[in-house]
Amino acid sequence: MSTDLSSKKIAQEVQRRRTFAIISHPDAGKTTMTEKLLLYGGAIHLAGSVKSRRAAKHAVSDWMELEQQRGISITSSVLQFPYGDYAINLLDTPGHADFSEDTYRTLAAADSAVMLMDVAKGVEPQTIKLFKVCAMRKLPIFTFVNKMDRYGRPPLELMEEIEDILGIRSCPINWPIGDGKEFKGVYDRLNDKIIVFDSQGTHGESIVEEVTVDLDDPRAEQLLGTDRYLKLLDDIELLDIAGDPFDLERVRAGELTPMFFGSAMTNFGVGPFLKAFVEMAPSPAEARDRAEINPTRPEFSGFVFKIQANMNPAHRDRLAFMRITSGVFEKDMQATLKRDNRQLKLAYPQTFMASDRDVAQRAFAGDIIGLYDPGHFRIGDTLFTGEPVEETEIPRFSPEHFAVVEIKEALKRKQLTKGLDQLSEEGTIQVFRQPHLGDLDAVVGAVGILQFEVLQHRLENEYKVKVRLRPLNFKHARWVDGEGFDEDAFNRADYTKVLRDRDDLPIVLFRNDWALNYCSQQYPGLRYLPNPPGT
Ligand code: G4P
Repeated sequence: MSTDLSSKKIAQEVQRRRTFAIISHPDAGKTTMTEKLLLYGGAIHLAGSVKSRRAAKHAVSDWMELEQQRGISITSSVLQFPYGDYAINLLDTPGHADFSEDTYRTLAAADSAVMLMDVAKGVEPQTIKLFKVCAMRKLPIFTFVNKMDRYGRPPLELMEEIEDILGIRSCPINWPIGDGKEFKGVYDRLNDKIIVFDSQGTHGESIVEEVTVDLDDPRAEQLLGTDRYLKLLDDIELLDIAGDPFDLERVRAGELTPMFFGSAMTNFGVGPFLKAFVEMAPSPAEARDRAEINPTRPEFSGFVFKIQANMNPAHRDRLAFMRITSGVFEKDMQATLKRDNRQLKLAYPQTFMASDRDVAQRAFAGDIIGLYDPGHFRIGDTLFTGEPVEETEIPRFSPEHFAVVEIKEALKRKQLTKGLDQLSEEGTIQVFRQPHLGDLDAVVGAVGILQFEVLQHRLENEYKVKVRLRPLNFKHARWVDGEGFDEDAFNRADYTKVLRDRDDLPIVLFRNDWALNYCSQQYPGLRYLPNPPGT
């Protein structure tokens, strides 16, 4: 499909896009920060809906009863909003530890990440896991130290912790002036300016007023008070030795994290952060690991990183989330599905505005669109027009929890098979067969144990099949490659069990770390792979 847009116009559109995700440990303030970004982007006019939204259970991603019962956010959603000349795509990732696989996939669609941390807590377990996935892709990471309106740990200590635990050097771009109730403002190191926030009036519902003066302006000392001003001068001197100098190349390579301080609750520091972030974060054209596809290539391409059913229970719809990698997406266009060369009409596309799902007319590289999916798509699918493009790699994680699916009503086996198929296509779970049992008693595997509850709930509600899940006491699943694989020997041992994946390839479950190590030594000709051989 050709577009009437010039390549210059396409390049301009790509250049102004910023597509990123926020990674954090639950409770660090991601929901609050997301809302404040929307406020600063002008997508909402008054913040404070988070609470009411929670109470009313109408959050953008509140799509499932289970989610509501537990009060956690299970699914990712995507928000698009303008900020000045920029078009921002914010990929919201679920905070709950059990849904990390979904989060990992979402990161495959981001060009950078904002790592949010609580000033009192520093680097927490979920942050570490998510950081590792970003690091694997060398994604540029920006650090926002949140909750500065509370007393927390000294900023220098947090810088040290980031380096020790995450292994990345940091470069504070803003430096906090005071903390807790005395958090007055930030010092903008790149421009030698002091930004003081007006603490009167709002409680974070609207954009906070700022006064900006040069560091050597006599008003700076007046604004801060002599003690605080002198302390800042000391800090500045110390910082020049402690952190690394700013280097955009290193930031873009994921080797240096620019650091910001603020409070998502009071909005202090949110504005200076967002302003610097959009300038430093790469556009889709500058994002490194997408180099294989030129984003300004006039022909369209994109990949599916997430499939989600039931966003609107009234319609039982299924959406495939696609990140556009090049060209122009136009509503109802035709594209080729790379997996089997089928021509598909990309129907009912939706973009994700702050409050609603609107029909997308046009979208460019970096944008995320939701395609109506009658069952065409799989995670990792690539679509294109014109010459075929390379596939984008979506990280896969091998399951760590396993259970046998036992059906309560034998007559419903067909629905069960359909349900399991679809839920495995969505990536909620992986389905394996026990070779000697054929289609009976499938085994399901999941990265997080809570996914089993989601499975049971959805089978019952969407496919009307009640199942019991009998946990299997195994910890690892590995595909086997190499010479001399004796399936019977693995089945005889009580610390291993052989299953088949959906392509009928053998996959071995290992009881524990010991079993995996032992089998590695016992059969040196075999390799145990976390992904199917050849992927
Ligand atoms: P999450 O999505 O990362 O899980 O965090 P969320 O935004 O829900 O915030 C978790 C808690 O931290 C909330 O308090 C929220 O108000 C608070 N919070 C977020 N940012 C800041 C900040 O900059 N400063 C302070 N002091 N608190 C912040 P809560 O008590 O769980 O809920 P609520 O009753 O305040 O809504």
